[in-house]
Amino acid sequence: MIHYKSEKEVEVIKASAQILGKAHAEVAKAIRPGVKTKDLDKIADDYIQDCGGRPSFKNYRGYPAALCISVNEVVVHGIPNEYELREGDIVSIDCGVKYNGYHSDSAYTYPLEGASEEVLKLLSRTYESLYLGIAQAKPGNRIGDVSFAIQHFVEQFGYGVVRELVGHGVGRDLHEDPEVPNYGKRGKGPLIKEGMVFAIEPMINMGSKNVVQEKDGWTIRTNDRKPSAHYEHTIAVFKDRTEIVTTHEYIEESYQFKWRNKSQ
Ligand code: MF3
Ligand code: CO
Repeated sequence: MIHYKSEKEVEVIKASAQILGKAHAEVAKAIRPGVKTKDLDKIADDYIQDCGGRPSFKNYRGYPAALCISVNEVVVHGIPNEYELREGDIVSIDCGVKYNGYHSDSAYTYPLEGASEEVLKLLSRTYESLYLGIAQAKPGNRIGDVSFAIQHFVEQFGYGVVRELVGHGVGRDLHEDPEVPNYGKRGKGPLIKEGMVFAIEPMINMGSKNVVQEKDGWTIRTNDRKPSAHYEHTIAVFKDRTEIVTTHEYIEESYQFKWRNKSQ
């Protein structure tokens, strides 16, 4: 069942998303070679709690941390640990905040300095696919229009679209209906209507679309161990427009490695 939100509820989700955007920026400031992923997790966890929020992922179905931190061939749901980031790595930081009863959810993949041109292209194209998906998330369209836009764009480069994990409605629960796959057909799926709030989150692999789950029960990595990128926004649909409620703006101000060509 899809829970449609009132404008007041969307305002609360936006407040949640502001804390989230700033938590991401605190993490961005600390991303560099030598930092342990569990130290990044503590930064986000402390910041969110200082703001009066709660990290949405912590204790979600037993998940042990505030962030999912997924390095290189890890697609999503990497558990923060003792690993120290290295030059040339890419690292996806996925975070959720619950504030005044409502969640917000967003993710961003950072390249460290030394990442190859080929990997930077994977990141900027995955980022672009997120925005192409968002452009289709307008009232009157269907979820399949969003899915198709993402898939159609990235497959031209030979990339693999992960099937096992999808975007989702966001609200009082972190994961609500509808599911928002990153592959699909135009004109199919639920109708996009005023009051819908959902996360769009392309997970795009440099190689094969196939993934495997590690024995820890969380970590998802590519089957062929080639790198994978992940960007996510939570969006809200109004009668005549769609707003991106989460923000990457504070991230892009705070991260020292200015890797993205914004004209792309
Ligand atoms: N951001 C992830 C998603 O969009 C949530 C991670 S699952 C958790 O589905 F268990 F780690 F919280
Ligand atoms: Co999500």
